[in-house]
Amino acid sequence: VTRSVVTGTGSYLPARTVTNDELSRIVETSDDWIVQRTGIRERHVAAEGEKTSDIAAAAATRAMAAAGIGPDDVDLVIVATSTPDNTFPATATEVQARLGIRRGAAFDVQAVCSGFVYALATADSMLRTGLATRALVIGAETFSRILDWTDRTTCVLFGDGGGAVVLERGEGAGDTADRGILTAHLRADGRHKDKLYVDGGPSSTGTVGHLRMEGREVFKFAVGAVTDVIEAAFEATGFSGDTIDWFVPHQANRRIIDGSAKKLGIAPEKVVVTVERHGNTSAASIPLALDEAVRDGRVKRGDVVLLEAMGGGFTWGSIILRW
Ligand code: ACO
Repeated sequence: VTRSVVTGTGSYLPARTVTNDELSRIVETSDDWIVQRTGIRERHVAAEGEKTSDIAAAAATRAMAAAGIGPDDVDLVIVATSTPDNTFPATATEVQARLGIRRGAAFDVQAVCSGFVYALATADSMLRTGLATRALVIGAETFSRILDWTDRTTCVLFGDGGGAVVLERGEGAGDTADRGILTAHLRADGRHKDKLYVDGGPSSTGTVGHLRMEGREVFKFAVGAVTDVIEAAFEATGFSGDTIDWFVPHQANRRIIDGSAKKLGIAPEKVVVTVERHGNTSAASIPLALDEAVRDGRVKRGDVVLLEAMGGGFTWGSIILRW
């Protein structure tokens, strides 16, 4: 079987970190409240002038080095982001140019926090149908730019960063025989669009706008949606919470992660968690967490890895792959 195989990962975080105590000097909040409700202790924030494409290119450079490939080897660049450098062109084209990639396709995917799962599933389809042979799939965000820094109910939750993977068409033989993406499931339900959105944009207000969220409504929906789409992945592959090796969920909130892991019978030691240090980095959170778990030796060749995300739209999705 032809499958798409991850052959390298990389990530990048802006240097500056902001602690909960620092936030409590800007809005009426406390380290206690934020840690208890979300598990977040600090987040990274992009420097002035540091753009999503800078973050994406830095993460992608590291993923390419890990995969041992150069710019001539890549013929697809997909950037999952809701905070592009510009309305157009796609941030992926800026990243492509920056990395010296001169062939193939480049475009952005916009599915908010589910963006990386959507982008990886899209790249997988394109590789398997022969539209491309080797892809850079990147999740990169600068949510600090779209936060309302006077709104304590949202500004404490998010952070900036990026992660990337190199995804290659495996021919189902030799080194890549049983590796790769085994199943992908994507969902959307646009009836929920007012629960998590940005109140601006080129065709509505002509401004960039700020993130708005009904946190409790998102929370209520999240665990059920996540469970549903993971059960679909289990059904398609025969794996279960017991037999997977690693769960790398979107990092929005410690309580959503713990709640869904428990419901799915996934032991806490199999769950990769970075939210306490990164906050919610939207489309970047999964590749950031994945890169960390690969580099510290947790995720190894042959391991079965479950990815899952849910975000604005609502959109949600899951992927199971063998490393
Ligand atoms: N500091 C202190 N108090 C706060 C803060 C804050 N930063 N934010 C809100 N509060 C107050 C509220 O004003 C409210 O006060 P009131 O009772 O006097 O009205 C009280 O805390 C409780 O507010 P709730 O919103 O009910 O708090 P809740 O327990 O629901 O926690 C939270 C809020 C953390 C946002 C929770 O709803 C949540 O995790 N939701 C999911 C959000 C999320 O993860 N979104 C992203 C997922 S999708 C994606 O990644 C794009």
